[in-house]
Amino acid sequence: MARISFRPGPGYRVVEFNRQNLPAEKQPKKDLPPGDDQGQKNIREIMKELDQLVGLQGVKKLVGEIHAFVEIQRRRQKEKLATEPQVLHMIFKGNPGTGKTTVARIIGRLFKEMGVLPKGHLVEVERADLVGEYIGHTAQKTREQIKKALGGIMFIDEAYSLARGGEKDFGREAIDALVKGMEDHKDNLILILAGYRHEMEWFVETNPGLRSRFPIHITFPDYTTGELLAIADLMLQKRQYRLSAGARDELRLILEETRLNHIHSGNARLVRNLIEQAIRQQAVRLVRRGHVSREELMTITREDMLQARQSNPSNR
Ligand SMILES: Nc1ncnc2c1ncn2[C@@H]1O[C@H](COP(=O)(O)OP(=O)(O)O)[C@@H](O)[C@H]1O
Ligand SMILES: [Mg+2]
Repeated sequence: MARISFRPGPGYRVVEFNRQNLPAEKQPKKDLPPGDDQGQKNIREIMKELDQLVGLQGVKKLVGEIHAFVEIQRRRQKEKLATEPQVLHMIFKGNPGTGKTTVARIIGRLFKEMGVLPKGHLVEVERADLVGEYIGHTAQKTREQIKKALGGIMFIDEAYSLARGGEKDFGREAIDALVKGMEDHKDNLILILAGYRHEMEWFVETNPGLRSRFPIHITFPDYTTGELLAIADLMLQKRQYRLSAGARDELRLILEETRLNHIHSGNARLVRNLIEQAIRQQAVRLVRRGHVSREELMTITREDMLQARQSNPSNR
């Protein structure tokens, strides 16, 4: 509890008050429940962050709808109107590097501010974190992960790998433990199953019990080359670097080529790796020189980008 006290000196009496003594209009705002001004402000900021992600129009629209729906349900509940049960478990379909984890993190924070989840953190797991080596081990491992995720979101990458091993595989045990966890912690845990689109669709079809439990499906399309370049600019801007015109042409070429080869196409993670690699190549290029201008310190050249491509393991 906030408490302010004045140090007692000679002739002084200790003056102590805490905010329980304050009149209502002077109460600090920050501990008010969600739905208050601060909460609304935080929500606006999170939505702005979502909006600033490049592309993802469909994803943004859907998150906007979920936000509106949850908010109105909350207000209806206050007015004692009938409310839909809020099942907010989700399926994210899309290739690697299309923004699934990034969006899941934002949704967690959004739900926290909206009062849907007490913590809103994200625990990202994959098959190896859930499946054990002997009977009973899997349920135990899965329960441990659920415990970590309580109050937030459990994000399971390549979720279908739990169902791939056939009837005797321990993956099934993990699915059962997850379903039980979802039921035991209805108001305290949201699950997001993520992975490649076709595999996710197969997974949901072959596990009818999951279909009704995961009503929200979001598809993450591959980024276009233009979007990937915009993502590169954004990442560089944050680090106070920029691409020279030549570096930009080179990056465009690399992206178009990987698209033709169908490897990592539309993948923002590839862009991040290339950018980070190019930044290191620029450092190597400049480090031995005596004077380097501010401009040069900020600029990634075509040469840096070429070097970056060569040192990128996925391009060899
Ligand atoms: N729309 C976007 N705008 C800006 N950066 C993005 C965008 N999508 C993804 N990124 C960045 O690309 C990287 C990979 O994204 P991530 O969310 O991990 O993809 P996924 O989970 O689908 O594999 C992260 O560094 C992320 O910040
Ligand atoms: Mg991810």
